[in-house]
Amino acid sequence: KIEPNLRPQTLAEYIGQEKIRHNLKIYIDAAKARGESLDHVLFYGPPGLGKTTLSGIIANEMGVNMKVTSGPAIEKPGEMAAILNNLQEGDVLFVDEIHRLNRQVEEVLYPAMEDFAIDIMLGKEASARSIRLDLPHFTLVGATTRAGLLTAPLRDRFGVVQKLEFYTPKELSVIVERSASVLGVEIDPKGAQEIARRSRGTPRLANRLLKRVRDFAQVKYDGVITKEVADFALDILDVDKMGLDNNDRNILLLMIEKFGGGPVGLETLAAAMGEDAGTLEDVYEPYLLMNGFINRTPRGRVATELAYRHLDIPIESGK
Ligand code: ADE
Repeated sequence: KIEPNLRPQTLAEYIGQEKIRHNLKIYIDAAKARGESLDHVLFYGPPGLGKTTLSGIIANEMGVNMKVTSGPAIEKPGEMAAILNNLQEGDVLFVDEIHRLNRQVEEVLYPAMEDFAIDIMLGKEASARSIRLDLPHFTLVGATTRAGLLTAPLRDRFGVVQKLEFYTPKELSVIVERSASVLGVEIDPKGAQEIARRSRGTPRLANRLLKRVRDFAQVKYDGVITKEVADFALDILDVDKMGLDNNDRNILLLMIEKFGGGPVGLETLAAAMGEDAGTLEDVYEPYLLMNGFINRTPRGRVATELAYRHLDIPIESGK
């Protein structure tokens, strides 16, 4: 028995990211009416918000295939050239973590994106010359956590650049109800709201938590996901009422207990956690910032009053 796919396949099924959906609909309809491939698209934002899903929807709505790869997976220019050369006319090439492409591989993309061609070097030194190989027209969909991680020449070659935002609890609630229906599990609106509220604004997490809550509903209750089941399961899963997980709470605790609430530099904090600074900045920080648990100051990150209150630590401590 295979697990059903929770990813929406069309723009109409997609919930949230209103602006992106609205814009993409226009670009897709216009490209289709002209009989052209869609211009290259860059999606950026925290993980789990739908970059891969939107790329799949673009391919589906354009009626083409999607080939999936990632920045770290392509090591040599020849590998990128082969991938591009094997595409069918109009195909979508999705490159996840596109900021991690190495320089030489990235340079293959410039003429490919701009002129649908690659330049192949023949010979060496004085006798060196290059020949141009035409490629099928294609749409490059790039995904990255921050647009600023891309080199300027690469960023400039995307005709469409869209930032993904965290979802509201209301939007996540609709997503959870949709996913529950795809999975064939009964869910109360209050149960869906509880999962939504605790999912860090992130559909990937909401769907993961839904599956785990379903397990508890099945084994410990009567199979229906109620608020009671959701509360019970999510407490066991260490997701708190504000949707913070152990990692989030550890960051705040460390800031307060080891650095007196800050300001503490990103690198220093990352080293204390044994975590990479980029991951801290792109994966953990955005949700904590958006919800006012931390602030960025010129001298570093500071834990806010809300962070102290949430962790039940008196604010004078450590100061
Ligand atoms: N599943 C995951 N993300 C979704 C979204 N944005 N809309 C509908 N279903 C989803």
